[in-house]
Amino acid sequence: MARLQQRRAQFIIVVALLYSLFILNRLVKPKRLATTQLLLPELGRHTKFQLPPYLQSVEDAGIDPAESIALFDKNSDAEQGSRPSQKAKKAGKLVSKSPLSSRYPEDKYTDFLWRCRTGEPRAAEVFDTFLSLKYKIFEVRVESERYPMTYNPSIIALPPSSHYPFLIVARVRGGGFFQESVICEGKYIDEPFVNAYGFEVMNRLIGCATNPRVLTVPQTPARDCTGIDYMSDVPGYHDPRIFWSNTGAPLMMFNQQSRYGCFGLWLIDLRSVYPSLRYRVTRGLLNQYPTVMELTRIEGRNPIEKNYLMFYDADTGAGYVQYELRHGSRHFSRLIGNGLTTSNMTSPLEATCIGEDAIWHQATNAIKIVMCDYGQCEPEPENTVYLTFLHKKEIPETFKVQYKRYVAVWKATAPFEMIGFGSKHIRFDNEDEWEQKFNVEGRFLYTVTVAWETNMNRYEGYLNENVVISMGVGDHGNAAVVMPVRDLFTCMSSCRGQP
Ligand SMILES: *[C@@H]1O[C@H](CO)[C@@H](O)[C@H](O)[C@H]1NC(C)=O
Repeated sequence: MARLQQRRAQFIIVVALLYSLFILNRLVKPKRLATTQLLLPELGRHTKFQLPPYLQSVEDAGIDPAESIALFDKNSDAEQGSRPSQKAKKAGKLVSKSPLSSRYPEDKYTDFLWRCRTGEPRAAEVFDTFLSLKYKIFEVRVESERYPMTYNPSIIALPPSSHYPFLIVARVRGGGFFQESVICEGKYIDEPFVNAYGFEVMNRLIGCATNPRVLTVPQTPARDCTGIDYMSDVPGYHDPRIFWSNTGAPLMMFNQQSRYGCFGLWLIDLRSVYPSLRYRVTRGLLNQYPTVMELTRIEGRNPIEKNYLMFYDADTGAGYVQYELRHGSRHFSRLIGNGLTTSNMTSPLEATCIGEDAIWHQATNAIKIVMCDYGQCEPEPENTVYLTFLHKKEIPETFKVQYKRYVAVWKATAPFEMIGFGSKHIRFDNEDEWEQKFNVEGRFLYTVTVAWETNMNRYEGYLNENVVISMGVGDHGNAAVVMPVRDLFTCMSSCRGQP
């Protein structure tokens, strides 16, 4: 009997020991937060958020968009007397009501886009495969003792109340994965320079007028970097792009660890991280992005997202994010607050205007242009367009990446149909020299941003006004071109077929 009790006691001790080991193990082992435990805004809720009329009507009619294009053509026959079918009638109504209803800039505003002749505009020289614009690339100097090398500059014009005309943000080139970007205010600097013939000439550049200093933004956690785990810990944001919003807010879009994937695009109002801007922008202007806010993408999100751009409806002022634009596909959504977006709002009737199926990267911003010289017309949706640069990425046999820049233009009101796309890529006058000078690792000048050269306290600009096109030289230099925006509209193909 005593023996049995002893056995039982032993058994209890063993069980208690095992149990306490189990508890200890749970306590000591670091607990990993399952990714699904992160609270994320519910995206599905927004997928059907107020479809625009051009998408609604397609759904209502219950017909395939491709079919409706065909029917639209048939419908014109119908007008010439043949008996329209019930379906064609429906489609006819549909087409006239919506997809083509965004006001087209009248031909008189866009006729000059399709010209493709050397000397027209004066600055253009047309070659077989590219268009050379006779504007010089010059240096953008962002450096300090601590940061001797920076690249991929993004430049905007500061409001008239500023000491210096420009604001510049550039990436610091350093060792390892660590990412840093600096900010400074810039101005034109004319520097004496002895040319190849021994003459002293003036060299114009844009340089920092204030000491470049590190621009920090709050860090964010990655949701899931499976397969590229090291990236979830890379400190610092990258690819900063600065631009003005339509209401005059200084915004910065950048790439950082994503709450929806591994890397994503985030926005912040620069007034939050560069406070002296507060006193220079419209007084009392709401700060919609007081801290970092991630831009969502409902369809087709990749673990690593890049190169979004923002633009605004010229009628309603609503903001849009364009995620991609390439051969046969376009994707943009409307911003509904706090960085959240609707689902794809691209019209299914959008004609593909980019002929070549290649790797296309869009520059991060787009500018709004009124298609006349300043003072010659009143800005209206009918004469206003958006322009951005698109890069075709090529990796030729030399394994040196090349980016060829093209111009893309679309309407300023929903559904923002494409109007034209460059039929040739654009090179600047002395681009060869720049490529040779930096021909170390890569051979490319990447267009980072395009912005108006002077800040007139307005979002849109006019054909006769200058833009600053900022460019990264490989991964180790900064450059820019300043030119009238009109000359970028050269040698384009019309998205309506033959003009
Ligand atoms: C968005 O819609 C357009 C037009 O229907 C289509 O071309 C594009 O592929 C769509 N993109 C995504 C990611 O759904």
